[in-house]
Amino acid sequence: MRKKLVISTGAGMSAESGISTFRDSGGLWEQYPVMDVASAEGFERNPALVHNFYNARRHDLMKAQPNAGHKGLVKLEEWFDTYIITQNVDDLHERAGSKHVLHLHGELMKVRAIDNDTQIYELESDSLDTTPDTIINGHHVRPHIVFFQEAVPCFEPATKLVSQADIFVIIGTSLNVYPAAGLLHYVRPGVPVFYIDPNPASVPPGVTVLKTGAGKGVEELTKILVALK
Ligand code: APR
Repeated sequence: MRKKLVISTGAGMSAESGISTFRDSGGLWEQYPVMDVASAEGFERNPALVHNFYNARRHDLMKAQPNAGHKGLVKLEEWFDTYIITQNVDDLHERAGSKHVLHLHGELMKVRAIDNDTQIYELESDSLDTTPDTIINGHHVRPHIVFFQEAVPCFEPATKLVSQADIFVIIGTSLNVYPAAGLLHYVRPGVPVFYIDPNPASVPPGVTVLKTGAGKGVEELTKILVALK
């Protein structure tokens, strides 16, 4: 019986693809006032500014490729039933070939109708930009992103996945933002937990910390996990 490997990733997972993290020096929240560009209030106050912020993020994403870390997680699917829960809104896990990816904070390449949350549209690479006047299928649209001050709709399925994990791995997150940072508490007692981060946040005793970047960390982790399969 293959073991269930659940991996929770944050912005650090995409750092080696050239995508800025949020809280590292020079990170996005140093460049932009987070409550203006990524909160429900900010969107209410100035939707054009928020549309432009995410338009710029999409153009950055078009220049990025999955890195060795993303690809290393795909390789783990050879031995484990692998499920990724990501705080990232980029599609680099999918582009690397990961089959099971749950986005807690939304998806950058998607927008949704403002008047109907179920109407979600995938943007094409030749039409990345939206404005408050953009109309798709007769609907005004907004980024398909969970803004600060909004609920995280997929958290419950994420906690279920973590509670079923035989191995839990955290990669590239500062563990600052809840509820995502709380996933660790849904791990069953005795399940091995690993945390890959060059500048790790403090974690409970018993977590194995690999103080390195995602690419090298996933390579080292794979050697450890293959012995646990
Ligand atoms: N490899 C792995 N981790 C890295 C790398 C790397 N090459 N470079 C940096 N990191 C780590 C940092 O040490 C830090 O712990 O990535 C983490 C980035 O932390 P944040 O910028 O806070 O990103 P994240 O934890 O994903 O933020 C969570 O906050 O603003 C919201 O919605 C946004 O999803 C985001 C959430």
